[in-house]
Amino acid sequence: MEKSIKVFAPATVANVTCGFDVLGFAVNSPGDEVIIRKRNKPGILITKITGDEGKLTKNPEENTVSVSILKMLDKLDSQQGFEIELHKKMPLGSGLGSSSASTVAGVFAANELLGQPFKQQELLPFAMEGERVACGSAHADNVAPALLGGFVVVRSYTPLDVVKIPTPPKLFASIIHPHIEVRTKDARSVLRKDLSLHDAIKQWGNVAGLVSGLLLSDYSLIGRSMHDVVAEPYRSALIPGYYEVKQSALDAGALGAGISGSGPSVFALSDSEKTANKVAQAMSKAFHELDIDNDIFVSKINEKGPVIL
Ligand code: HSE
Repeated sequence: MEKSIKVFAPATVANVTCGFDVLGFAVNSPGDEVIIRKRNKPGILITKITGDEGKLTKNPEENTVSVSILKMLDKLDSQQGFEIELHKKMPLGSGLGSSSASTVAGVFAANELLGQPFKQQELLPFAMEGERVACGSAHADNVAPALLGGFVVVRSYTPLDVVKIPTPPKLFASIIHPHIEVRTKDARSVLRKDLSLHDAIKQWGNVAGLVSGLLLSDYSLIGRSMHDVVAEPYRSALIPGYYEVKQSALDAGALGAGISGSGPSVFALSDSEKTANKVAQAMSKAFHELDIDNDIFVSKINEKGPVIL
């Protein structure tokens, strides 16, 4: 059995507009890398973290990667020790599922080194514990697509029931990360706790439409369904120029656009790579016009989830 392993896990776009906490997809880049080595004594050591500007803790009781692995070891009643190196290849607090990518890479790597006691989908509850540490809420709409790849629906949290659905072949994502930080915890605290029946009807119509559009590869239906009355009206205030950036994506030919996860990144879906590139340039320009520097990512939907490097 291997003693050390290096794993990549992808960034993710949670919510996908109308699917707050229940829908997400993975992209090919960016993503994070984790190297894990077996120790010959118990306990987890985080030996190195790069790319985090010193922001992440090396305390194994508080780091999302080690917390998830510790939960897994608890479940197995295992005393196996590990050394962890975490290489962040994407910005923190960006709405790209940064903590989820690391956590998923970590639990996947540990499971491999332990001889795969768990099936891939069974790793999800452990990875969700990492989300609880990261932002106080164990939502699955980043960790599930990071773990399974593709588009994932969280049908239910109790009991946990997630479904991977097929990705339309021509779909591309454009993601713009403006250089501002929004903490998920803060972005969750601005949300309203209650929803009117009127808004609930709009939202579940759009969720059903979006899932149907994905299943049918109906790009127009996907676009028509990408509306959110639950989070966008409140979270948009945390992203300067949000509505201008979104409009620039639609004007450039995107099927739809919205806030990526809890923001501040903004994403759009398009039905070709060419349009996705054009959309990304338009969104980037819209942020630049407000003097906000940004990074551009254009990617096909990632179907694989974590991979051994
Ligand atoms: N569904 C979560 C949210 C994703 O929007 O708060 C953020 O990680």
